[in-house]
Amino acid sequence: MNGITIALSKGRIFEETLPLLAAAGIVPAEDPETSRKLILPTNRPGVSLVLVRASDVPTYVQWGAADLGVAGKDVLLEHGGEGLYQPVDLGIARCRMAVATKRGYDWAGNVQRGARIRVATKYVTIAREFFAGKGMHVDLIKLYGSMELAPLSGLADAIVDLVSTGNTLKANDLVEVETIMPITSRLIANPGSLKLKRDVVKPLVDALAAAAPAMAAAT
Ligand code: ATP
Ligand code: PRP
Repeated sequence: MNGITIALSKGRIFEETLPLLAAAGIVPAEDPETSRKLILPTNRPGVSLVLVRASDVPTYVQWGAADLGVAGKDVLLEHGGEGLYQPVDLGIARCRMAVATKRGYDWAGNVQRGARIRVATKYVTIAREFFAGKGMHVDLIKLYGSMELAPLSGLADAIVDLVSTGNTLKANDLVEVETIMPITSRLIANPGSLKLKRDVVKPLVDALAAAAPAMAAAT
């Protein structure tokens, strides 16, 4: 394939990447919210976007099915980053990874007395490393979504999930008890594409990187 393919996920990543692409002179030919197409041509001949699940973006880029992609740091840490070059922190989709419990749960007390704590999360790698770093032994329960339900239903004592405004926690009577790390989305590249398609890929990476600080400042 001679052209360039950029992997994005629908929703927040697509919407927040759009202004960066526009600054680089790239405008999708269709709106993914109304189109059912998974490959979107753009105004730039040879540049197309592919729409995949957020957690599949690194896989597409790693295997060269996409030359570039935009993925959250959470997704990249869970993926492991193997076979990926991460050239730019785009500063978009800004949130944080945190531990939350039901309001009133004695997190500090339970941690202090070394109680066996059950933690439900989609982010098992991040959670495992965080608790290991604190010398805590926890039982991790893997979930694929609706983490907030776990402490409410008795499945777990705590969750590790993304928090932005805190509204989701509040709506479910949960409180943040630990902040693990800030999260933003990164531009990732296939190392082979960077070499073999350098003439096209490098200027595009540079243009997106140049637009990113302005976007980050605006959010
Ligand atoms: P998948 O579809 O693969 O399950 P997802 O549902 O987490 O993934 P999105 O909700 O579109 O996908 O989130 C994409 C990225 O945006 C996440 O990986 C994270 O980095 C970031 N993100 C998630 N939630 C928020 C939020 N509330 N505010 C800001 N950024 C967020
Ligand atoms: C994410 C995350 C939290 C929520 C936090 O979910 O999983 O549930 O955002 O944001 P807040 O602190 O601003 O409420 P999202 O809205 O992406 O839905 P999803 O679970 O379908 O990914």
